Order: sequence, then C-alpha cells, then structure tokens
Amino acid sequence: AGNRTFTMIKPDAFGAGNSGAILKMIEEAGFKIVALKATQLSAELAGKFYAVHKERPFYADLCKYMSSGPIIAAVLEKDNAVEDFRTLIGATNPANAAEGTIRKLFATSIEANAVHGSDSDENAEIEGNFYFSQFERVI
Ligand code: CMP
Repeated sequence: AGNRTFTMIKPDAFGAGNSGAILKMIEEAGFKIVALKATQLSAELAGKFYAVHKERPFYADLCKYMSSGPIIAAVLEKDNAVEDFRTLIGATNPANAAEGTIRKLFATSIEANAVHGSDSDENAEIEGNFYFSQFERVI
C-alpha cells in the first residue's frame, strides 16, 4: 500500500538507453511499479498533458521536445510517494540537482531533464489517468 505518484522517462533519457538504470533506481528507492508503458506522444497530446504550463515561455518547445521520441509512463506506489519521488529525481534544472539524484545523473538540460514527477497527489491522479485505464494498472 501507500500512495501514488506518476512519472515519465523523457525522450532524452529513453533515447540514451537509460530507462532501465532509472527504473532500477526507482525500485531500489522503495517505489513499486503499479502501471508501466512505453509510448510516444503527439505534440497535441503533449500540449494537453502540460496544459498547466501553456502560458509559460517554454511551453511550445516543451511540447515539441516531449513528442520528439518515445517515453516511458509509469505509476509508482510508496508511502509519501509524491514528495519522496521529487527528492529522488532532484531539482528541475539538473545544474541545481543534488548529487545522486536521477536528474543529476541523467539529465542534460532544464528541458531535457530525464524524468517528470507529479507535484501533488491530485496531479498524480490526473496524470496517471491521462495514460492508463483501470485495466492497465494494479488495483
Ligand atoms: P517537468 O517537471 O516535467 O515539468 C515541466 C517541464 O518543462 C520541466 O520538467 C522541463 O522539462 C520543462 N522546462 C523547460 N524549461 C523550463 C523552465 N525554465 N522551468 C521549468 N520547466 C522547464
């Protein structure tokens, strides 16, 4: 049991062949994978996923980048999942990410920052539902 967060392994990390290493770090940190798929977003779907950022200057680039190649989407379960996962991945900008975090190890820029992590329980639910039906995840 525990609560849930949502993650994507982004096109930079997927393309570099780091998905397995990242999933291993996630499991070793005590997260249980309760849904998982490899897929690729269209620019339109990336725009929907990141709609909260549509007024930001980086939005158009972000949609283009997030649809540029395959990604992995996953729902993860652990006590205190949202906060603990954000600690594991590190700061949005890898230049500011702590040693040993996923972004410090694998991100290349503030945009191509290896992984996404939900920022609240509410968004974790919305984001998981964006990718997975009730038949595609562990109950
Ligand atoms: P993520 O945590 O998925 O949420 C929004 C994404 O926008 C972020 O990771 C980055 O990939 C991207 N991004 C690009 N530029 C910026 C920026 N200046 N500030 C925050 N996010 C950015």
